[in-house]
Amino acid sequence: MSFTADRLLLFGATGDLAQRMLLPSLCALSADKLIAPGLRIVGTARQELDDQGYRNFARAALEKFMPADRRGGMAEFLNRLYYQPLDANQADQFQALADKVGPIEQGLSIFLSTAPSLFEPTIAGLVAGGLTGDKVRIGLEKPLGTDLATSCEINDAVARAFSEDRTFRIDHYLGKETVQNLLALRFANIMFEPLWNAAHIDHVQITVAETVGLESRAGYYDGAGALRDMVQNHMLQLLALVGMEPPANYDATAIRDEKVKVLRALRLVHPDETVTGQYRKGAIDGQPVAGYDDELGRDSDTETFVAIKAHIDNWRWKGVPFYLRTGKRLPQRKTEIVVQFRPVPHSIFAGRGARTEPNRLVIAVQPEENITLSLMAKVPGLDREGIRLRSVPLDIAMADAFAGPTKRIAYERLLLDLIEGDQTLFVRRDEVEAQWDWIDAIRASWATHGLRPKTYTAGSWGPSAAIALTERDGVTWHE
Ligand code: BG6
Repeated sequence: MSFTADRLLLFGATGDLAQRMLLPSLCALSADKLIAPGLRIVGTARQELDDQGYRNFARAALEKFMPADRRGGMAEFLNRLYYQPLDANQADQFQALADKVGPIEQGLSIFLSTAPSLFEPTIAGLVAGGLTGDKVRIGLEKPLGTDLATSCEINDAVARAFSEDRTFRIDHYLGKETVQNLLALRFANIMFEPLWNAAHIDHVQITVAETVGLESRAGYYDGAGALRDMVQNHMLQLLALVGMEPPANYDATAIRDEKVKVLRALRLVHPDETVTGQYRKGAIDGQPVAGYDDELGRDSDTETFVAIKAHIDNWRWKGVPFYLRTGKRLPQRKTEIVVQFRPVPHSIFAGRGARTEPNRLVIAVQPEENITLSLMAKVPGLDREGIRLRSVPLDIAMADAFAGPTKRIAYERLLLDLIEGDQTLFVRRDEVEAQWDWIDAIRASWATHGLRPKTYTAGSWGPSAAIALTERDGVTWHE
């Protein structure tokens, strides 16, 4: 049902995500008049605060996390905020929350980010407080379970109160402009699609590298590890967008139908096709940093790095490896997708001493948004000693190409879509389940083979085995 909610209820309203992302996003949307003046935003968390106390809290967060040039309209935004303390385990407290939210006939959007153990009581509380129904939709932030079984439990609990078309599972990578641009690149240009298959693509690399370490998230991260924290969601979504067939329309059903087919076609990974690592002390940007075990204060088998050679078993991708790698405390923050094309079938230049290199498309998602296509060109000259060819980049720096539009953070887009009810950039239940299915099988094989993470020095590109993973196929990671 299409409606624009005039109430927004934020769970976890005093948490890290709210401070860094949600409040700044909402403030920006409010300042740019993208959300209606009447939208009432109610925050809730355990902390005892009144409305004014929460406004003060929000102001401090905005001053800390929002660039000064985007803080216009802050006073007006703060006046939209209300707050109700809540212990989600106490069902009787949801009535006061409902009173604070007020009438919901015009529509309510809920943003739920909570510990996995609180999902069920929260949903039950929302039902008891009358905060469900046809005009209520719910956005769910990860972690949504730790494997397929627990994810199904959460999804079942949610489904008892919210139909799938009112359930918005968040993967914030889908809110990133460059990730959406992948669809434009693939499906708004004629030249890529005919080449986008096993006949012309040798392999694909997807890297999500971070320089940060544990970041005071030990409780969550040590129970998750890189595979579940990053691959299960963000990286598989990137893979699905690269790998999917052209959808007929840009809409939630068509796009998600195509993504899920790719996720279901992922081949079970052989234990030799994964490498895990855990960082030890080293240096990032010349600054010494501690090892994972030191940060954690104990030994752990949790992987902070993972590299996987994945395969999509369908006609389009037969025999094309998708190399995935992600890790904490790597030398630079970088998310990129590399599409390595095959060599030309026959080089007419070989007799003249020139070497051709296969074309490569690099889609840099962050920190800079850049699309680079490497093309072969002739080095200028009279060629008396043979023809020389060189690979030259055809570059689109998105920041230069689109200097005008404001660069928005992913949650601005996602919160707006949640308020207005557009599910295109949210993950459907069948996608999540296909993702978990594949991830669970990898974890099971790690357990069977007693695989423990290898160590790597903070500031390096992970364990040397990750390099061997591609090198034995004659492939080098793009750095
Ligand atoms: C989150 C992970 O989902 O994504 C974090 O839990 C990670 O561990 C973060 O740091 C990365 O997001 P981004 O947008 O900074 O690439």
